Amino acid sequence: YQKKKAYRKRLHGLMRELAVYYNHTLKGEEGREALAYMKRRGAAAQIMPFGLGYAKNSFDDALRFLKARGYTVKEMLDAGVVKQKDGRVYDVFRNRVMFPIQNVFGDVIGFGGRVMDDGIPKYLNSGETVIFNKRYNLYALNTVKKRRNLKSILLVEGYMDVVALAAAGIATAVASLGTSLTKEQARLLKRYTEKVYLCYDGDDAGLNAALRGVDILEKEGLQVFVIVLPDKMDPDEFVKKYSADAFYALAKKAPAATNFRLFMLKRGFDMENPDEVVQYGTKAVELIRGLKNELEKERYIKFLSKETGISVESLFSQMGKGKEEKGYILPVKESNLIKKEAGEEAR
Ligand code: CTP
Ligand code: MN
Ligand code: MN
Ligand code: MN
Ligand code: MN
Repeated sequence: YQKKKAYRKRLHGLMRELAVYYNHTLKGEEGREALAYMKRRGAAAQIMPFGLGYAKNSFDDALRFLKARGYTVKEMLDAGVVKQKDGRVYDVFRNRVMFPIQNVFGDVIGFGGRVMDDGIPKYLNSGETVIFNKRYNLYALNTVKKRRNLKSILLVEGYMDVVALAAAGIATAVASLGTSLTKEQARLLKRYTEKVYLCYDGDDAGLNAALRGVDILEKEGLQVFVIVLPDKMDPDEFVKKYSADAFYALAKKAPAATNFRLFMLKRGFDMENPDEVVQYGTKAVELIRGLKNELEKERYIKFLSKETGISVESLFSQMGKGKEEKGYILPVKESNLIKKEAGEEAR
């Protein structure tokens, strides 16, 4: 165990040295194009705060740098920064703007690298290694967690969203690492906050991912609000086109989890069509029935009544009806029967 721990430390050191090297490269002669790219994206001032860098367009620049620093090829392979193919060892990241990924202790554990044109893949991320577990980490949480009076954390899709929000003065954003949100990441957030603003991209993929994200965050006991961006924009595009204030305004009226679920459900129906309004109402009642708190149920039934023009009485009656129906369609388990009989005896 001690040996393993020492080895992980060694790899953390390797990653930090490489991150610093990438950062120097970005600021040097060979980083000119990358620097211009970051300027174009309005993120030049974020290079130092986020330790952004540039990996040269070379097969073995990182390899040679790390070798000179005393690291072995095995260590580089284990850290996931070089690959081996047909006996040749070469750099994983080439000609990309580099985003170092830190764990909550500040160790550099991985990288995300972006191409500067529309090449694919747009982002290349470190694979899983002994020091990099995507599902247990969040980009930028290391810095966000240190903020005083942290009242909430903003969860976004991408590295550039985090960076662009910071450039706009909103420094509480973290991102999952090129994968969908995991329960481990939700648990990690719960260690630093009670409240999460989820702000994924406004496209269909982002909205659907938000729907799954809300479930995961709520299961870990977090209070969730969802910021829905207009015109399929992402947070980076939104703060650039509008402003940080416009973003705060959206956050202020961000729907809570249940409202967001209803909003997503409603998208599937033509609310101009009375039959579809009824279909929406019926589905929405099922969703509200699943709420644990009776007061909340009343609140959302009232909300739904306003939305659909269906009376609160009808909605409540439908909600009660569904419960029985559900009981009938459920397969009768032996344990259910026993409970029922016991109940009857008690009467
Ligand atoms: N992602 C990835 N690999 C890809 C595309 C995306 O790992 N080929 C991850 C990255 O972490 C990225 C996030 O998913 O930041 C969101 O993807 P997307 O919205 O497509 O990218 P943006 O963050 O908007 O990136 P950019 O603004 O630089 O185009
Ligand atoms: Mn650090
Ligand atoms: Mn996206
Ligand atoms: Mn995006
Ligand atoms: Mn983007």
